[in-house]
Amino acid sequence: MAKLNHVFVCQDCGTSHSKWSGRCDECGSWNRLVEETVRAKSVGKKLQADTFFSQLSTIDETLSRQQTRLVSGIDEFDRVCGGGLVPGSVILVGGDPGIGKSTLLLQLVAALSATANCAYVSGEEALSQLRLRADRLQVNKAAVHMAASTHVGEIINALEQLPNLALIIVDSIQTMAVESLESAAGTVSQVRASAQEFITSAKKRGHVVILVGHVTKEGVLAGPRVLEHMVDTVLYFEGERNYDYRILRSIKNRFGATDEIGVFSMENQGLTEVKNPSALFLANHHQDVSGTAIFAGVEGTRPLLLEIQALVAPSYLASPRRTAVGWDNNRLAMILAVLESRCGISSANRDIYLNVAGGLKINEPAADLAVAAALISALKNRPVPTGSVYFGEIGLAGEVRSVNHTEIRLKEAAKLGFSNAYFAVPRTSKKTNQTFMEDSAIQVNPLRYILEMV
Ligand SMILES: Nc1ncnc2c1ncn2[C@@H]1O[C@H](COP(=O)(O)OP(=O)(O)OP(=O)(O)O)[C@@H](O)[C@H]1O
Ligand SMILES: [Mg+2]
Ligand SMILES: [Zn+2]
Repeated sequence: MAKLNHVFVCQDCGTSHSKWSGRCDECGSWNRLVEETVRAKSVGKKLQADTFFSQLSTIDETLSRQQTRLVSGIDEFDRVCGGGLVPGSVILVGGDPGIGKSTLLLQLVAALSATANCAYVSGEEALSQLRLRADRLQVNKAAVHMAASTHVGEIINALEQLPNLALIIVDSIQTMAVESLESAAGTVSQVRASAQEFITSAKKRGHVVILVGHVTKEGVLAGPRVLEHMVDTVLYFEGERNYDYRILRSIKNRFGATDEIGVFSMENQGLTEVKNPSALFLANHHQDVSGTAIFAGVEGTRPLLLEIQALVAPSYLASPRRTAVGWDNNRLAMILAVLESRCGISSANRDIYLNVAGGLKINEPAADLAVAAALISALKNRPVPTGSVYFGEIGLAGEVRSVNHTEIRLKEAAKLGFSNAYFAVPRTSKKTNQTFMEDSAIQVNPLRYILEMV
């Protein structure tokens, strides 16, 4: 018989403490310890080696049966998951309140229900509310099993009676509770225990589980980080309040590449796929204005062209303003320093503003060169050469470093009608400048030092 223990669990990091204190010793956050009851673990049985181990060759058969991925036909979603959902896998979808998680997943089950047996369990909304959303999204005819419940035991029992279940959506994991714990839904132990129950059932029965997770003010998934470790795949659904587009990003994926993105646009009838996001983000680009440059970026495996804008204004402050939106402030300071020391372009007594058009955030160092181009153009008040794209990392010596995926970037730029590319040719590449040019139908301008561009 399992023994009940009372512990105090930090709601931020999930550490258990034997007595209450105002501050968590592990992560240092205040007033986050909550009393919870946990069952002591029973000791594992002694097993014979041959019942414990299986032969690799026999595992193979069940695996190959399981490896046929569930493909929804929503390409932007399938790609982010690595080409469809792997049976038996567990996916966590995180996102800010109201960003469209429930909308996305309802559209997903509706699309999959044509070929597979799917269920959607909501702990947040009543069936009538789900029905309203389904009506608005025009998926009310889909054969999806819908339920409103927060009891994990009840849900799993009911699921076991559904034959050939392929996918279940749990919206959201913070509303779920297992009966054996006394603590409230949403506490760390409840989130962890509920997730564990769903994971066990997924691994045992081979269906996919998608858990919706709330995101806290700080932008991390509510509950402990352990939730991210427990699941196979972690996706974030993000967007800016003032824009219609939404981005689904893979943070962790045991069955595919990470940093992959899917782009959607939020409309009255729900989310629609954006097949050509570069065109969307460049829609308002004006070539003949100084201070803008196009960055040929790559998110995961997909190219994405973005506009970088820089503005320079006389400064009346003792230490002039340097503000970057969608880009790292320290990196901006570094590039300004390189321009000053290596190219003699001074930005003293000027305020500098940098912006990634469309409200996107760039993490790639490859954007350095485009940022530098926008800054030079703004400081000299001259537009960059028409039809140019830029990509490359800038080093402190003023050198331009090559980045990965050169060909994908060039191809996308050519596809969108750009005629010039400034970048560093990879040293390891077998291709010469000539072959890059022949292959990519775009004028290639290889750079070794940033000074060559000035
Ligand atoms: N009647 C409507 N017409 C158009 N768009 C709507 C309508 N109702 C909701 N929306 C859009 O859908 C969004 C809410 O989507 P959804 O409920 O899927 O978000 P969520 O991420 O699941 O939110 P929560 O965290 O509250 O569960 C709203 O922010 C709004 O943009
Ligand atoms: Mg929701
Ligand atoms: Zn803590």
